[in-house]
Amino acid sequence: MGYSIIGSTFNKIKAETLYFVPLGENLEIWQMSVTNLSKKLRKLSMFSSIEFCLWDAQDDATNFQRNFSTGQVEIENGVIYHKTEYRERRDHFAYFACSEKLAGYDTQRDVFLGAYRSWNTPLAVERGRSFNSIAHGWAPIGSHHVKLNLKAGETRVVTFVLGYHENPKDKKFDPPDSQIINKRSVRPVIKKYLNPVTVQAAFDSLRSYWEKVLGLYQVQTPDKHTNRMVNIWNAYQCMATFNMSRSASFYESGIGRGLGFRDSNQDLLGFVQMVPERARERILDLASTQLETGGAYHQYQPLTKRGNNDIGGDFNDDPLWLIVGVAAYLKETGDWSILDASVPYDNKSGSEKPLYEHLERSLKYTLDRLGPHKLPLIGRADWNDCLNLNCFSDTPGQSFQTTTNKDGKVAESVFIAGMFVLAAHELADIAERRGLNTDANNYRQAADQMDKTVHTHGWDGEWFIRAYDDFGKKVGSKECEEGKIFIEPQGFCILAGIGLEDGLAQKALDSVNKILATKHGIMLQQPAYSKYYLNLGEISSYPPGYKENAGIFCHNNPWIIISEAMMGNGDRAFDYYLRINPSAREKIGTLHRCEPYVYAQMIAGKDAPTHGEAKNSWLTGTAAWNYFAITQFILGVRPTYKGLMVAPIIPAKWNGFSVSRIFQGVHYTISVKREGKGNTVRLIVDGRAIEGNIIPKPPSGITHVAVQALLS
Ligand code: GLC
Ligand code: GLC
Repeated sequence: MGYSIIGSTFNKIKAETLYFVPLGENLEIWQMSVTNLSKKLRKLSMFSSIEFCLWDAQDDATNFQRNFSTGQVEIENGVIYHKTEYRERRDHFAYFACSEKLAGYDTQRDVFLGAYRSWNTPLAVERGRSFNSIAHGWAPIGSHHVKLNLKAGETRVVTFVLGYHENPKDKKFDPPDSQIINKRSVRPVIKKYLNPVTVQAAFDSLRSYWEKVLGLYQVQTPDKHTNRMVNIWNAYQCMATFNMSRSASFYESGIGRGLGFRDSNQDLLGFVQMVPERARERILDLASTQLETGGAYHQYQPLTKRGNNDIGGDFNDDPLWLIVGVAAYLKETGDWSILDASVPYDNKSGSEKPLYEHLERSLKYTLDRLGPHKLPLIGRADWNDCLNLNCFSDTPGQSFQTTTNKDGKVAESVFIAGMFVLAAHELADIAERRGLNTDANNYRQAADQMDKTVHTHGWDGEWFIRAYDDFGKKVGSKECEEGKIFIEPQGFCILAGIGLEDGLAQKALDSVNKILATKHGIMLQQPAYSKYYLNLGEISSYPPGYKENAGIFCHNNPWIIISEAMMGNGDRAFDYYLRINPSAREKIGTLHRCEPYVYAQMIAGKDAPTHGEAKNSWLTGTAAWNYFAITQFILGVRPTYKGLMVAPIIPAKWNGFSVSRIFQGVHYTISVKREGKGNTVRLIVDGRAIEGNIIPKPPSGITHVAVQALLS
């Protein structure tokens, strides 16, 4: 967690390197230990290497006529300082230090590698000696050469520190009138982390940090894949996606867009319990980019915290996600004060209003934009960024996200209708708990009205319709030639409670099972689009079976998993859960082709030649939703305003499971036992039977609660 160990043994020399970033530092430790497993003295050379990036990844990869002439370094006491552009406007530099006395170093890539060679056979390593090269332009690198004489059985530990450092603008140079980096404030940092005692302490605190974070929800079930993902990897991925969203990262291209408004709100579903203070900050940052109309920029830049003008707004589902994110935060933390936090619109000072009002405007945004059937207008797109009903683009390379050729007064989304119902109920619950009963009633009425509209104009007979296009024609209906049924409205209408009572929900889920479910997960839509449709946009730009064009989008499979759980279908919910569970897919790793512990964005659907192959792991909304589905709906341990709910909907063949959950400072140990085939729960809390399935919050001072849940 937060570290990697890479090792190997060759010719009786064992080498192992631990890599990690200490909490709160801008540096990475590489701690290498080398052991001589042979019976004789061994004389070894060790070479480190790193290629420095020139601060701007995009420019670095494109602007060669500048970049090959700017590289500069300094060497002082064996520490390599990378200072490209420091001579002009930058006040930051990188450094690479080593705990041992050096036999040599290199900082120029072409010298270290040698002509016509690459990173797999550097000349310096092959000849066993550094060149002591100094980078002047070209491509600066850092490489240390350390000589080790190891006796039989001896182990030596060598530490490298790779870091980033900033100086105050007026203290960049030392002496001040020179061009030499002022190293006064960085030297103590380097010294500190070259000390193995400090390294050990930093590593210990990283580990205990993660033990604490992962300790918030631990489960023992009869299924090892559930245990592995819930206890470790799914939670870990929720942290990664919370931190980076779908943004720039070393996992993907290294450069790119800002944080998505809807993406980041959904990430909260899997993150709120981990570091609530950071979740709170994220909510307020997101809300600060909201527009006065209630609309939202589609993305914002995490460093400036400003909405991203290049992409703009008008993705009409966006604002509703703020309600979903805030509700998750409130249920987890009970921190109602966040609703009174004063938050600007579009970061304009003077426009501040309580967060609660932002949520109200989010709902109103939908109601202000209803189409011919009184369903919400879709705008540029809803959750499905690739269903672009107002785009009509016939120009190669044009952005489907930012091109709008229609006035947007016709195309409607049944998905947003479902989301609206869900969000309106959430806001009604929030209003009610704040004593705002009139508000609560209004929101419930608006939800009921929309529910009726979905019944009238959003139902196709066997499933929910997806949308109406710019001609007022149905999308995702039996009337369509291709794309007859979509997953999104089935999932979200049911999550919102539409059709639970009158059989629509069950019918829709049966249709999903019959038409969309494959052994590798549930496809986004069927039949796949076989050609490009001007009126549908990017979705039809993908070959059949990929991405939104009938791929298995792991992000929305959990909507169906939750819906199945809501209908009490534990076997089906869990079956769907396992189909995309990365650990369960390890046994088909050569087909799946993705890390067996990380959710992918997509698994190729049945129309693709590579059906079952996963793509684009780490940064996807999938992590949060799967975590939410398994922990809160299948295992059923769910935060509510009244307390922790225990409502498992598990497979019939499970005898039970146990959960350890820390919720609002109280440690709950919950042991679930199956006594019958059904989902009816009886709770015994600290030895006493209680009514209902919500554990009341214990009196203050009580920090541990033991719960038995009997399922019959
Ligand atoms: C650790 C984790 C990182 C997380 C941070 C939170 O450094 O590796 O993912 O964001 O802690 O403070
Ligand atoms: C990507 C986008 C997300 C969108 C999804 C489906 O993950 O980041 O915003 O909902 O694709 O199109």
